[in-house]
Amino acid sequence: MSEPKGDIGLIGLAVMGQNLILNAADHGYTVVAFNRTVSKVDHFIENEAKGKSIIGARSIQELVDNLKRPRRIILLVKAGAAVDAFIEQLLPYLEKGDIIIDGGNSHFPDSNRRYEELKGKGIRFVGSGVSGGEEGARYGPSLMPGGDAEAWPYIKEIFQSISAKSDGEPCCDWVGPAGAGHYVKMVHNGIEYGDMQLISEAYYIMKTVGGLTDKEIGDVFAQWNKGVLDSFLIEITRDILYYNDTDGTPLVEKILDQAGQKGTGKWTAMNALDLGIPLTLVGEAVFARCLSAVKGERVKASSILPGPQIPKDAVKDKKEFIDNLEQALYASKIISYAQGFMLIREAAKEYNWDLNFPAIALMWRGGCIIRSVFLGEITKAFKEDPQLENLLFNKFFTDAVTKAQAGWRKTVSLTAEYGIPAPAFTTALSFYDGYRTAYLPANLLQAQRDYFGAHTFKVVPEKANDNLKVGEAIHINWTGHGGNVSATTYDA
Ligand SMILES: *[C@@H]1O[C@H](CO)[C@@H](O)[C@H](O)[C@H]1NC(C)=O
Ligand SMILES: *[C@@H]1O[C@H](CO)[C@@H](O)[C@H](O)[C@H]1NC(C)=O
Ligand SMILES: *[C@@H]1O[C@H](CO)[C@@H](O)[C@H](O)[C@H]1NC(C)=O
Ligand SMILES: *[C@@H]1O[C@H](CO)[C@@H](O)[C@H](O)[C@H]1NC(C)=O
Repeated sequence: MSEPKGDIGLIGLAVMGQNLILNAADHGYTVVAFNRTVSKVDHFIENEAKGKSIIGARSIQELVDNLKRPRRIILLVKAGAAVDAFIEQLLPYLEKGDIIIDGGNSHFPDSNRRYEELKGKGIRFVGSGVSGGEEGARYGPSLMPGGDAEAWPYIKEIFQSISAKSDGEPCCDWVGPAGAGHYVKMVHNGIEYGDMQLISEAYYIMKTVGGLTDKEIGDVFAQWNKGVLDSFLIEITRDILYYNDTDGTPLVEKILDQAGQKGTGKWTAMNALDLGIPLTLVGEAVFARCLSAVKGERVKASSILPGPQIPKDAVKDKKEFIDNLEQALYASKIISYAQGFMLIREAAKEYNWDLNFPAIALMWRGGCIIRSVFLGEITKAFKEDPQLENLLFNKFFTDAVTKAQAGWRKTVSLTAEYGIPAPAFTTALSFYDGYRTAYLPANLLQAQRDYFGAHTFKVVPEKANDNLKVGEAIHINWTGHGGNVSATTYDA
């Protein structure tokens, strides 16, 4: 039997899978393609794949037999049971050292589990985030692989050559162990929810308070796309606002205002709650979608619950208003990314993952949905100091929020004054003010907890005395009829 020719195998010929195969073939790799519905394979080989270095496999065994060792197989199938089912089907044909890569949108705990299970069988598992949509898969996605580090030398060249590039550097590097690749992809999606919500709020403020037409708003986004906000999402927003329906009016105004969601933003927010990280902007972005979904109630409330009237001359100086809004969007976005990296840092600690922070920022710099010029600055910040405690402590970002602050506050004030919902802008500013406050009112909160639940508190070290000792869990007899037993004694 002749030597197998396949460099990499791919299971799942939906549009992402097909595009990734064509991308790899364009880069000189021989790809073996398989789909459960075998007719799909034949169709693909006779059409899109014709004349390219792509081999069709009509069974799992044929797929495996056509691959060089160690075998490298990418799964691009529906997240969940389908991934486990294909792993089960592959196992009888694989040998120790072979590599299974899950490129789907799997939830990271599943990738943790698969990594462990396959490790026990001598199979190297990689869970890789893939972002960039159909276009990205075809011409350069952002790839975020993590899992069994022994697999990396065998897939590095292929992955980095098919991925997007930023200033010549591949938007793909090793993220970390176990489910870390899918974890980072999850946080990417959460941040994407935040960016989209911020942009939608900016549009809404321009439309309501500013009285701008969609064409004018499109022009503002076009302008912003030449500055610090230069990004894929701003660019497509410009195009959306310019897009007219057949009757010549903006199509976007005909779209029902009820947001859908597939759950990755929710996963991110839930993980932030689990880890105790104030990922407020992503949280608000998820809740904003939930609020949009109760359309019927909102319509009813709009005629029952009053709010301020927006006067025609609410905006006196249009240029200043738009500049302020740009600063508000920029500062809020910085907060969102600072929060995202706080979450990833905590995850690294909690799950005991050694994560590559500069690489994570670089992977998001190009190819993916949140790609932007701004991520180049984040990459730089983490390259300067991989241990950077918070993005806001990097001089570039400290200066940026300092400069943006006045416009940011004016924008948020305007929304409050005129009753315009802007949860993402508002929560970003609240976080900023909370984060830069050395002494928060949590002292009172602790007193309340001790008062009704004997939950105890600690004393400010400089204010300690004989009754209030440093470091001790103190319970006070607030009422004169309190007992001696504090809650900590039993909430072990
Ligand atoms: C097979 O291909 C179709 C699209 O042509 C896709 O919807 C399906 O998910 C693929 N399934 C598998 C498991 O290969
Ligand atoms: C859409 O219509 C507006 C006027 O309502 C016009 O200014 C704009 O150029 C149109 N957009 C395109 C892409 O034709
Ligand atoms: C709480 O204070 C009251 C009134 O001063 C006192 O009678 C009571 O014994 C105290 N309780 C404890 C547990 O010290
Ligand atoms: C509460 O504890 C203090 C110190 O341990 C003790 O002096 C006091 O008698 C106790 N009071 C009661 C009501 O048990």
